[in-house]
Amino acid sequence: MPTIKNKHMKFLEIKTQIKQFDNIDELPQADTELVMMARAAAEKSYSPYSNFKVGTALLLENGEIVTGNNQENAAYPSGLCAERTAIFWANSQYPDVPVIKMAITAIKNGKILPSPVAPCGSCRQVMIETENRFNTEIETILDSSGEIWVADKAKDFLPLFFEGKDLE
Ligand code: THU
Repeated sequence: MPTIKNKHMKFLEIKTQIKQFDNIDELPQADTELVMMARAAAEKSYSPYSNFKVGTALLLENGEIVTGNNQENAAYPSGLCAERTAIFWANSQYPDVPVIKMAITAIKNGKILPSPVAPCGSCRQVMIETENRFNTEIETILDSSGEIWVADKAKDFLPLFFEGKDLE
């Protein structure tokens, strides 16, 4: 079937900007500390099935830092990613406190991955729910042993997200 070309076709263009740092030494000190906490959290992951350890550290607006890691299960879909483990815990303990920053690290075979890993789609959706809930943005730091990537907000990873308004 030949493609039908329509010169009146409209396009929705989506642009995302993510800051790229050459290595962890280029980050501000406070961000380095958050990344180190995400790394420590990754070490404590329960991931006997994938051996892929993910750690997250969240900075809350009140200065508290909450960490989480992936929790796997023999019934695979019953497990949960590090990002959602941390966010759900933070939101359950501090229902009135926005999450303002988040660092994510992954470790495979005892080594931090050589390039940044982005959160999965479900975690992006949950991160965005938390942004919307508090009407704030979550600056997100993607760690690696090489480059570090920083997005201003979770919506940069999932520009076409689903939100409460869509249910009205
Ligand atoms: N995982 C996370 O914890 N976060 C992500 O964003 C992607 C994947 C976990 C889930 C599972 O335990 C393992 O990594 C392999 O997919």
